[in-house]
Amino acid sequence: MEFHNLSEENNSTNSVRALVSKKKKSRQNVCFYGFLIAALIGIMIGLAIGIPLTKRDSPDQNVQEAQNVLKQYPLIDGKRWNYFSHNDLPWQYRQYVQNKVYEVNLREDTRIQWTNTTNMTSYDFPRLPPQTDIPRLKQGMVGAQFWAAFGPCSATGKDAIRIGMDQVDVIHKFVNKYDDTFELVTTAQGILDAYLSRNRIASLIGLEGGHMISNTLGVLRSFYSLGVRYMTLTHSCDTSWADNWKQDLNMTGSRRGLSAFGEIVVKEMNRLGMIIDLAHVAKQTMIDAIKISAAPVIFSHSSAFEKCEHYRNVQNDVLEMVKNNTGLVMVNFYDGYISKGCLPVNATESTMQHVIDHINYIKDFIGVDYVGIGADYDGVPTLPVGLEDVSKYPDLFGKLRANGWSTEDLKKLAGENFIRVFKDVEKVKEKQKTVQPYEDILPEDETVPNRMCYTSF
Ligand SMILES: *[C@@H]1O[C@H](CO)[C@@H](O)[C@H](O)[C@H]1NC(C)=O
Ligand SMILES: *[C@@H]1O[C@H](CO)[C@@H](O)[C@H](O)[C@H]1NC(C)=O
Ligand SMILES: *[C@@H]1O[C@H](CO)[C@@H](O)[C@H](O)[C@H]1NC(C)=O
Ligand SMILES: *[C@@H]1O[C@H](CO)[C@@H](O)[C@H](O)[C@H]1NC(C)=O
Ligand SMILES: *[C@@H]1O[C@H](CO)[C@@H](O)[C@H](O)[C@H]1NC(C)=O
Repeated sequence: MEFHNLSEENNSTNSVRALVSKKKKSRQNVCFYGFLIAALIGIMIGLAIGIPLTKRDSPDQNVQEAQNVLKQYPLIDGKRWNYFSHNDLPWQYRQYVQNKVYEVNLREDTRIQWTNTTNMTSYDFPRLPPQTDIPRLKQGMVGAQFWAAFGPCSATGKDAIRIGMDQVDVIHKFVNKYDDTFELVTTAQGILDAYLSRNRIASLIGLEGGHMISNTLGVLRSFYSLGVRYMTLTHSCDTSWADNWKQDLNMTGSRRGLSAFGEIVVKEMNRLGMIIDLAHVAKQTMIDAIKISAAPVIFSHSSAFEKCEHYRNVQNDVLEMVKNNTGLVMVNFYDGYISKGCLPVNATESTMQHVIDHINYIKDFIGVDYVGIGADYDGVPTLPVGLEDVSKYPDLFGKLRANGWSTEDLKKLAGENFIRVFKDVEKVKEKQKTVQPYEDILPEDETVPNRMCYTSF
């Protein structure tokens, strides 16, 4: 999930500041979300994770066409590729139908169903036309998705947990509703089983923004129980324990990276087997997290700073650390990070070739084992020509193949690298299975900013 452009990002920072000053006036506001949360945790754990077995989808014409494209490359064997990417469809459900999954037919073109901003819940992230639906996922031969449970920064210190849990519930709902197409998975092997054995799109949950754990490890663990398998330490706002990328623009002053409590969050994620995602964080947070993490980290949707100077992207020295950490940078397709939003600002047309340049850059600089696909469909407002929606992956892979990528390397890019990282994260969990849960609480002196409506004990 990204902002429109640099100036909107600035505005949004200002609104965070405004919020911080406003919060001081509204200290007396009593928030009772804690009670709601406890209830929701109970209900959602009850919903749990089902893996129903129904018959395979009959291949429609789109699948046929995509298979024909891929069959030009014999080593692909006409099989679907196991693409991993970060996808914000759950936020579209919130925006356009207030989470009413049963009011939308995902088997039909969402561009026809979501056409108008009139019914949008919030104007923070207008995303039209929608970039995801089942026909286009099939056309795109998508084998796996990380569905983002996103909450806006404006909910920090207020009801961010409520929004995050609602997003997780939306994912559970649409995965269950279309259980002939999707399967919720929580393990690396589960991805392979869902996709290879049952022909389902392996559906994973990523929590996009550490503000949604509301400074407590109990909530982090509860999200894990609900199936969340990565957490982005920050969105584009600081948490009390980690700085976001905007710090690198010198817009907000502090340059703390990860605080002492932030290091505990990382350690607890290692212990749980939750992948640490460093998209959106400040460079110092990237460095601190990679140093402290016992497991490989990912950047779920970030591109190469050297190809586009934007602080959402990964700089060369950090890329070297990612290689040493055996982590993964999954390239974001947003034109703001691959061509248009780069400094100095250069509003050129954005094409698939820009994305390929970023992928090739990371491959050449640190190796093909550490690059993946992040995409960010339905999380970005504008995309390069040729990569407009989830149906376009085969075109990208076809072009890379035509440009000399080996099939082995394409498989790594498409999903093998991610599976390797996830398995390593699981191994770290296994090694730490006798370690007890961290029970640290956020120290008083780390509670900046956003402590608007916490109970004092
Ligand atoms: C959206 O729909 C409303 C209600 O039907 C209509 O009044 C408005 O003009 C539409 N806006 C756009 C941009 O199409
Ligand atoms: C807005 O929502 C209402 C109620 O769900 C629906 O009847 C109406 O058609 C929607 N309008 C647009 C423009 O989508
Ligand atoms: C931020 O400020 C520091 C200290 O003045 C400077 O070294 C650094 O280059 C600045 N960073 C950016 C992104 O402007
Ligand atoms: C590489 O990683 C190891 C631990 O895996 C660490 O001890 C070492 O300091 C790292 N080297 C660099 C240059 O970051
Ligand atoms: C802007 O983009 C064009 C086309 O890609 C390129 O030739 C030019 O060098 C770029 N300018 C800057 C300042 O990056």
